[in-house]
Amino acid sequence: IMNIKQHLKEDVYNVLKDYIKKEDIVIEKPKMREMGDYALPCFTYSKVLKKSPNDIANTIKEKLCNYEINVVNGYANVFINKKEFSKNILDKIALEKEEFGSSKIGQSKTVVIEYSSPNIAKPFGVGHLRSTVIGEALKNICIKTGYNVYTINYLGDYGTQFGKLIYAYKTWGNAEAIKENPIQELKRVYVKFHEEAEKNKGLEDEGRKWFKKLCENDKEALELWNWFKEESLKDFQKTYDLLGINKFDSYTGESYYKDLANDVVEEIEKKGISKISEGATIVDLGENKTPALIKKSDGTTLYITRDIAALIDRKNKYNFDEILYVVGSEQTLHFEQIKEVLQKMGYDYFDSIHHIGFGMVLQDGKKMSTRGGRTASLNVLLDNSIELAKKIIEEKNPNLPNKDEVVKQVGVGAVIFNDLKNYRINDIEFKLEDILKFEGETGPYIQYTCARANSLIKKLKNNSVDYENLEINEYEWNVIFRLNEFEETILKSKDNYDPSLIAKYIIDLAQDFNKLYANYKFIDENENLTEFRLQIAYATKIVLKEGMRLLGINAPDEM
Ligand code: ARG
Repeated sequence: IMNIKQHLKEDVYNVLKDYIKKEDIVIEKPKMREMGDYALPCFTYSKVLKKSPNDIANTIKEKLCNYEINVVNGYANVFINKKEFSKNILDKIALEKEEFGSSKIGQSKTVVIEYSSPNIAKPFGVGHLRSTVIGEALKNICIKTGYNVYTINYLGDYGTQFGKLIYAYKTWGNAEAIKENPIQELKRVYVKFHEEAEKNKGLEDEGRKWFKKLCENDKEALELWNWFKEESLKDFQKTYDLLGINKFDSYTGESYYKDLANDVVEEIEKKGISKISEGATIVDLGENKTPALIKKSDGTTLYITRDIAALIDRKNKYNFDEILYVVGSEQTLHFEQIKEVLQKMGYDYFDSIHHIGFGMVLQDGKKMSTRGGRTASLNVLLDNSIELAKKIIEEKNPNLPNKDEVVKQVGVGAVIFNDLKNYRINDIEFKLEDILKFEGETGPYIQYTCARANSLIKKLKNNSVDYENLEINEYEWNVIFRLNEFEETILKSKDNYDPSLIAKYIIDLAQDFNKLYANYKFIDENENLTEFRLQIAYATKIVLKEGMRLLGINAPDEM
């Protein structure tokens, strides 16, 4: 079923089709609501039609007699038939339910999304949380818009630090502590290594030795490393479970590319795009640009070399149309370099690489880090949020059924919503008391509004509304008009890789709905009116819930 805006586009196209393409029809929102529901700027067609904007606007007005149109300063301002529009959208939502807002833009196109990508043998960091939350939302958005999606968790499981860790573990590791909490113990011995290395320079060599062994597939080194990885994945899974994230399609990490990285160096050398600088191999990227270092003077490859190997491998495996890297903005240069090296290597898909950067998490204005001990671990952060959600819900609704589940959904949802409600490049402030407020632009506010709509619709009779005998008021109209913008918002958020557009949209919808709720009773003596309002509540619930789902947030039926 087409939505009203698409209808309008079709209708305008029918008037102008001898002159312009459908894609070129512009439909804007008027500056003020009183001016109309949609505005068609007609000066855009003046040149091709060789007519004045006002003449064109008048032609449109004459031909589209089923709309009310005012011609003002070259614009055709369109008032749509509110009754027809309302029926159309409410019926559409009732019919399509969760499918409402889907589109087929991405049909037969593939997007690979790399996100989360924590480093093994280290606690899951707040930066990785952001990557996980943003990546998961983008995954849902791409699926909703019809793309084929593959997700990759590019584990940080390679590098000289693992040599140090093996040495440290063998030297200072405590079997008991390891059983208890492996990641914490590994962190402890790793920190100890660095402290000791300050005093004893020989330790660095020990670390290097073990890293070399690991590279040469030494049995003991490999066993330990595999075990680090296993324990880490178990630990990460706890976080993924809390966030409600299912499996990634691939967990192929950096280490998988250690040999392929050598092939990349060889290929680059063969193609003659590298040179030797102080013993190292670099690719010059032009004036004023930092060259890409792809092989150190000791012959080892680097982070970027493995990334290039991974990229080529992924193109072969998935033949993607787009690949998204959801990685903090501090790695912007890294991804620019990858793109440029790839272009120099002659691969034409360099343009399909998108670095989806994001800002830091701040606490009291300072960078929050799991390393510096400001927050013990990410699971603690989520647990704290759940804890506070529990306190609030105990107060507000002590007899709530299914309380534990709801408390979890609210606590976790609050963290996710706080992350996604602003444009991702901005830093976000993490303040527990603020993100869990039931008022304002928060996750709990949306969840609460959704539960409110859900409780109203128990009285829904599912009769058809008699629109003839209905006067649609301003508050009802605002909700209905907003509902219609869902699909468009999702498409925009895909185009800009920006989940915050959906977050802002559901805030607006929740506010529109709550204004209606505050000003009018849903249950009226007039049954027809009651049915109409309850249908609005039903549609609002569907869209709020689906909007939250796209962001990775669960919505309780009652709270
Ligand atoms: N593990 C890396 C880190 O924690 C992030 C990996 C980003 N992805 C990539 N393809 N380089 O910094």
